Amino acid sequence: MRRTIGFIGGGNMGEAIIKGILKSKLYKSEDIMVSDIRKERLKYLKSAYQIKAFDNNPEMVKECQVIILAVKPQNAKNVLEEIKGVVSPEQLLISIMAGISTSFVEDFFSKSIPVIRVMPNTPALVLAGMSAISLGIFANEGHSQIAAQIFKAIGETVIVPETLMDAVTGLSGSGPGYVAVIIEALADGGVKMGLPRDLALKLAIQTLLGTAKLLKETNLHPAQLKDMVTSPGGTTIAGLHMMELGGIRGILIGAIEAATKCSQELGK
Ligand SMILES: NC(=O)c1ccc[n+]([C@@H]2O[C@H](COP(=O)([O-])OP(=O)(O)OC[C@H]3O[C@@H](n4cnc5c(N)ncnc54)[C@H](OP(=O)(O)O)[C@@H]3O)[C@@H](O)[C@H]2O)c1
Repeated sequence: MRRTIGFIGGGNMGEAIIKGILKSKLYKSEDIMVSDIRKERLKYLKSAYQIKAFDNNPEMVKECQVIILAVKPQNAKNVLEEIKGVVSPEQLLISIMAGISTSFVEDFFSKSIPVIRVMPNTPALVLAGMSAISLGIFANEGHSQIAAQIFKAIGETVIVPETLMDAVTGLSGSGPGYVAVIIEALADGGVKMGLPRDLALKLAIQTLLGTAKLLKETNLHPAQLKDMVTSPGGTTIAGLHMMELGGIRGILIGAIEAATKCSQELGK
C-alpha cells in the first residue's frame, strides 16, 4: 500500500496535523486525505492544502495506510461502526479522541487492528504541541515510530503507558487553559500597576514563553532559575512571597489532580 494518511474529521486538530506533516514533508499532499460531514470544511481543506477530500468515511479508509480518528469523542461510536468492516490489520488506526481508550476502539473490530492513542494539546495549532502516545495491544514498535513521526511534526512527543493518559490530560491536555489564566492574571497585575492592557499582555506572554524556552534549552531546574533571579531584599522575592501566601503551588497541584480525576470519571 502507498504511504498514505487519512483524517476522519477535518476540524481544528485534524487541520493542525495536516499542516504539520506537510510542512515537515513527512507526507506529500497527494497522499493526504480527509473525510468530514461538513462540506464547507472539505472544500476549504481541499483548496488550502491540495489534499483529497471525501464525504464518505469507509471510502477514504480503504485508500489509507494510516487513519487518524479526529472527530469529537461523542462521535467515536458512530464512526467506528461505519468503518469496522473496511479496516485491515495492515493499516494503523491512531485516535486523538480525548478519553477514548485503545481497547474501546479495538473492541469494534473482529480482527487484530493496531491502534494507537494520542493526546495532543492546543499549541499543536501553531506546531508547538505536546503529544503523549500510548500503544494498544496490537500495535508494535514500527507503529509507534510512525505515530511519533506524525506527532513530532506538530511539536514534542512522549510515549507513555495508557494508565498515565488521565494524568497527561490533567497536565499537558488541560494545561493551555491554566497557562492562559496565568498569563491573563499577570497582565491584570500590570494593568493594576498602571500599564496599558496591550503592553501588559505582551510582557506577560513573552515572559512566559521566554522562561519556558530558557528552561528547555538550558535544562536548568526551575528552582535553580528561581534562585538565580531572586536577589536578597529584591523585587522578585517580594513578589514570590505574595504567591506563596496565596498558595500558588497547592492551587496548581490541585488543579492537575482535579482535572486528572475528571478525565478518569469521563472515561468510565
Ligand atoms: N482541539 C484540541 O486542542 C484537542 C486537544 C486534544 C485532543 N483533541 C481531540 O481531537 C478531536 C478533534 O478535536 P477538534 O477540536 O479538531 O474537533 P472539531 O474541530 O469539532 O473537528 C471534528 C470534525 O469532525 C466532523 N465530524 C463529526 N462527525 C463526523 C463523522 N461521523 N464523520 C466525519 N467527520 C465528522 C465535525 O463536524 P461537526 O462540527 O459538524 O460535528 C468537525 O468538522 C477530539 O476528539 C478531541 O478530543 C483536541
